[in-house]
Amino acid sequence: MTEHEEDKLDKYRSEGDLNVSPRRKEWAARNIDRETQRWLDEDSRYFLHQSLSTPCLNVLSCCDGIYLEDLQGRRIMDFHGNSVHQVGFRNRRVIEAIVAQMKALPFCTRRFTNLPAIKLARKLAELAPGDLNKVLFVPGGTEAIGMALKLARVATGRFKTISMWDSFHGASLDAISVGGEAIFRSGIGPLLSGTEHVPPPDPSHCPWSCGQECTLQCARYVEYVMEKEGDVGAVIAETVRSTPYIPPPEYWKIIRAACDRHGALLILDEIPNCLGRTGKMFACEHYGIVPDMLVIGKGLGGGIFPLAALIASQGLDIMSDRALGHYTHEKNPVACAAGLATIACLEEEGLLENARRMGEHALERLEALREKHEIIGSVRGLGLLLGVELVRDRKTRERAVEEAERVMYDALTKGLSFKLTMGNIIQLTPPLTISRDEMDKALDILDDCLAICATSSSS
Ligand SMILES: Cc1ncc(COP(=O)(O)O)c(C=O)c1O
Repeated sequence: MTEHEEDKLDKYRSEGDLNVSPRRKEWAARNIDRETQRWLDEDSRYFLHQSLSTPCLNVLSCCDGIYLEDLQGRRIMDFHGNSVHQVGFRNRRVIEAIVAQMKALPFCTRRFTNLPAIKLARKLAELAPGDLNKVLFVPGGTEAIGMALKLARVATGRFKTISMWDSFHGASLDAISVGGEAIFRSGIGPLLSGTEHVPPPDPSHCPWSCGQECTLQCARYVEYVMEKEGDVGAVIAETVRSTPYIPPPEYWKIIRAACDRHGALLILDEIPNCLGRTGKMFACEHYGIVPDMLVIGKGLGGGIFPLAALIASQGLDIMSDRALGHYTHEKNPVACAAGLATIACLEEEGLLENARRMGEHALERLEALREKHEIIGSVRGLGLLLGVELVRDRKTRERAVEEAERVMYDALTKGLSFKLTMGNIIQLTPPLTISRDEMDKALDILDDCLAICATSSSS
């Protein structure tokens, strides 16, 4: 691969590890048998190819709890799970609720409503902070983001937004316009106009060179842009980027106050990190602020059903004469039954508490790994949203991209799957049902793989 091609790949690594890397090929040659390869070839033949997906890595046959199982019968701990598996895979209560609902009322035609949809909307309104108590459901997070953007335009009479570089809000044209990743935005033609972007709270790569501690200049810059533009309708951002960037406690207070001063709405995207992953039901609860709209999804369907929701403040119920959503599955009873069962598991099985405890334990162990492995530049976490940043040099913070890929594929061989973001950050997001033994087993694998990486880099 030429240097230019390598640079281009690097730019595309923000969202996840790439499916076209040479190391992926090497891993497949060593680990994929002929039968699996035959199915992978069929997949590749019939699916449109796209980055981060087809051609695929492996073929799965089943899953259970924190485990995936592939066609070759290997069990893999899933610390990725596309952030849908808060209650673990193939959760019994969720499946029972889905089956019962499918037998009674599998779909709800428009103009009608149904009990699971009403109960889930009520439950979310009760759980969400402040006056966030008006709900619309859709199958996917991207669609929920689209509704939030439309509602913000109607509510404020303004179309401009401020969002963050490196952020992801979904793959549709409106969502990639506010998103900040080249892999979605480049070469695609005109995006929505009026979408301003600002730097995210990432001290390691801060344009103000704030060092390892965020000095909140990035938060204040949001207000600077609002002042200059004069007519920003909304700030849309992930409360805690899955990387994870964990903003300091004051960060959202500063932006919330700036929005209030300048008449802009605050839309927080918690699609992957809602429902307990951070140790609280919603990540914004860590910051003591209430957005005007909260967008959730992913795990809301219990790791089985596609389901997302826009939860808006009472005062934003202003579009009764127009269609805001109008999605075919906006009151899908089966999806809503899955959502209710999921929340019941989270509440009745103490999963938020487990996320906090296991998250603290994991972070302690990761800190110890940082002492041991020079390649770890920083570790961070909030509940069971954990990140390990690999760097070639702790001072320059040069990203250890090659090394991160190597660690990822070695871990996969040893039965642990996780995602890389920004090329060099190991993102660890296990189910909230994880036990201490399972967590320790996973972190032992990570430790081994980091040691192998260090040995091979020095030899
Ligand atoms: C922060 C964030 N926003 C939006 C989305 C889009 O959600 P969906 O894939 O359900 O459309 C995702 C999905 O990964 C996400 O992580």
